[in-house]
Amino acid sequence: MKAFPRTPLAAQPAQSHVEHTVLGGALVPWVGPTMEVYSPTMGESPNGPARVCLGSIPRMDGAASLAALDAAEKAFDYGMGEWPTASMATRVEAVEAFIKAMVAVREDVVRLLMWEIGKVRPDAEKEFDRTVDYLRDTIQSVKAMEREAIHFREEGGFLAQVRRVPLGVALIMGPYNYPLNETFTTLFPALLMGNTVIFKPAKYGVLLITPLMEAFATCFPPGVVNIILGRGRETVSAIMETGRIHTMAFIGTHKGASDLKRLHPHPHRLRAVLGLDAKNPGIIMDDANLDLAVAQSLAGSLSFNGQRCTALKILWVQKGIHDAFVEKLSTGIEDLTWGLPWENGSKITALPENGKTAYLNELVQDALSKGAQIANASGGQFDETFFAPTLLTGVTADMRIYHEEQFGPVVPVVAFDDIQEPIAYGVQSPYGQQVRLFIQHPESLGRLVDVFVQQVGRVNINAQCQRGPDTFPFNGRKDSAEGTLSVYDALRAFSIRSLVTFASTGDQKALVSEVLSHRSSQFLSTDFYL
Ligand code: G3H
Repeated sequence: MKAFPRTPLAAQPAQSHVEHTVLGGALVPWVGPTMEVYSPTMGESPNGPARVCLGSIPRMDGAASLAALDAAEKAFDYGMGEWPTASMATRVEAVEAFIKAMVAVREDVVRLLMWEIGKVRPDAEKEFDRTVDYLRDTIQSVKAMEREAIHFREEGGFLAQVRRVPLGVALIMGPYNYPLNETFTTLFPALLMGNTVIFKPAKYGVLLITPLMEAFATCFPPGVVNIILGRGRETVSAIMETGRIHTMAFIGTHKGASDLKRLHPHPHRLRAVLGLDAKNPGIIMDDANLDLAVAQSLAGSLSFNGQRCTALKILWVQKGIHDAFVEKLSTGIEDLTWGLPWENGSKITALPENGKTAYLNELVQDALSKGAQIANASGGQFDETFFAPTLLTGVTADMRIYHEEQFGPVVPVVAFDDIQEPIAYGVQSPYGQQVRLFIQHPESLGRLVDVFVQQVGRVNINAQCQRGPDTFPFNGRKDSAEGTLSVYDALRAFSIRSLVTFASTGDQKALVSEVLSHRSSQFLSTDFYL
């Protein structure tokens, strides 16, 4: 039997107690209750194994959150504040200064990604570097957008200049599985478009923001970035109830998103960018390349312990290839190294969510009681925060794992004869993020592509589901998402087009020419951003 990973007492890090937050352009001390932050990693302690305590953060309340809202609103000042009226060059300079500060604390953030959410070092480094690349690409994209905006359009006797302007105060909330990347890929587009921000870090993965707090406070004008720490229910709810949030980014469950939206007294005024639940199917046809299908299923289902919204969460395997596929996948799963995130070669680590292993065990027991089998030797074993990767075969529609998003290392396999079975699953599913097709036959592939593009936001041919490259649109249908993200789309999501128009007559053109030559408007301008 494989051993469950443990951290020796001597290797546990010094605790970090965060005693301030970012408010109105300064690091403001917090006087009030705090909450402890625990690692998913089980440590040895004199009283037996226990989750390693990493420190504590302020447990802010509704009143403190409203102070953050006041600061953000004041900085926006109905679109006339320093930040929304700043030139794009000024905003880009601020973000570039932030990136510089961010790169300087890379190792601190990577270390906390490992300790706080159990992400293995190569993936933690990838998350950090990919985020920096995303910010740099966003700067290039915003420059291109700005350059495009200098053109005037002439239609039906009118001339017009169209530009994108900010929406107002943005509430940005990130998920625990990508607490840096998925938060910053909405936060920075919102900032670059001139919005002011209230940033609530993810439930797990919050200490890793602290090395960046000073940069948040100093790189932007006062009130442009405000951070709230604590429990979502005790902070975010108070803000939403005011109706003073104009746009929100939220990555989590569709239920959580709907509850939040319902709190807003004028939901029609709230622009939302949501990344929600998914149950992406992988469909493996009899003619699939077996080795490729197994390798991609392994990575697709179990990287970061299956805690990716894009993870493959159910595998549909045609009966002719089923046994060979299951045998190879089972071997691959047993070969994955269980370990601590910083150990070389670790692939499966402990899970940060409270109660997660009990939930996964419930799913497995439910499936077993209805006729499923565990196909890998260590499947089904768990201990405290660690759950062994588990391959479940014989999965049927009466089992919870068939429907529920496990978001963890359980891999359910459904055997099928007729392709109409997985098609019906995709059509009837409440989710619609992505699908993966493993197949070689071009005719059948073409037909399947045409079916699934009507159900999901992305069809992956002979490759796992994933978000990247980040210039591709990332979205979902039904309960899986609202809005589309990409380097370019995120800039659109956090802004609205406004236009200035005038009759294309000599006197009006002369008037506007005067405005342009005197540079008396920032909006109405043909200045080119080099
Ligand atoms: O958790 C959802 C992420 O956006 C997935 O991103 O496919 O790059 O892991 P990824």
